[in-house]
Amino acid sequence: MKSTSKLVEEIEALKAEKKATILAHNYQLPEVQDIADIVGDSLGLSLAASHLNGIKRIVFCGVRFMAETAAIACPKVKVLLPELEAGCSLSSSITADDLRRWKAENPGAVVVAYVNTTAEVKAESDYCCTSANAVKVLNAIPPGKEILFLPDMFLGAYATAMSGRKAKLWPGECHVHAPISMERINRLREEHPRAEILVHPECGCMTNCLYLSSQGMLGEGIRFLSTDGMMRHVASSKSKEFVIATEVGILHRMRKEHPDKTFIPADEDAVCKYMKMTTLEKVLRSLKEDVHEIRVPEDVASRAKLAIDRMLALA
Ligand code: 13P
Ligand code: SF4
Repeated sequence: MKSTSKLVEEIEALKAEKKATILAHNYQLPEVQDIADIVGDSLGLSLAASHLNGIKRIVFCGVRFMAETAAIACPKVKVLLPELEAGCSLSSSITADDLRRWKAENPGAVVVAYVNTTAEVKAESDYCCTSANAVKVLNAIPPGKEILFLPDMFLGAYATAMSGRKAKLWPGECHVHAPISMERINRLREEHPRAEILVHPECGCMTNCLYLSSQGMLGEGIRFLSTDGMMRHVASSKSKEFVIATEVGILHRMRKEHPDKTFIPADEDAVCKYMKMTTLEKVLRSLKEDVHEIRVPEDVASRAKLAIDRMLALA
């Protein structure tokens, strides 16, 4: 087995030779984040992919829907996913057939699809959104239009409450975020009274949090943020202690960039097995053998791109 430093050395050399850029999501393994050119959230990585110039390959260290989004945004670049089995329980909660049926039951409705969906589902949608811009996207829809929001019901509850727009929500959830409950948040607030609580809108506590917040019962120290939103908040806040309610991979970046601050995971078991499938060995193989190329059929990509572009135009 090769040492980490040897793997890193070989990855760096091949990356330069093959004109590749490595993108990694905030939930990736620490050593994978450390070799990436850009680490970010779904929106940041989609934007980065759409602005890359002069590169031939993107090695996407994340999950499949993210690599598909990059392939749609950069049709001239080869997008490689080091592990083909890296899926997403949330994106699997709705198929294009499910969506076509839902649309048929709600003719004329505007469809907003979270980026955690397959390219086929995006192709059936009017707007894409991420956890960073879901509220902005809902606000951009002409008033009076019926809205279908999918697939995450907790993000949907958050975005509708914050925008004041009504929407029908698909009952999907992420198996990592849904178990992060209000009981857990309340216990951590008691145990760490000085900590700020940063909650990803996919968390199962979202509806309760929103109700209690609206009643003024949660105080100032709780915020609902995407993973990059959390990174920005931690950098600008004067607080020294934070409870982090999302997948635990982000703690690596937080601790690395802010060694003077303390980060407490809301749930140590909030581990996305799909995000942890990408290893340095697989990144090296991906660069060496050009695997696994993610291709989206042209007709699907062009329709999905409309939904993604409408989102990017608002970003
Ligand atoms: P972010 O866009 O906030 O990084 O979230 C992506 C995701 O998969 C959350 O589980
Ligand atoms: Fe999907 Fe949940 Fe993993 Fe994010 S954490 S990639 S939503 S399964």
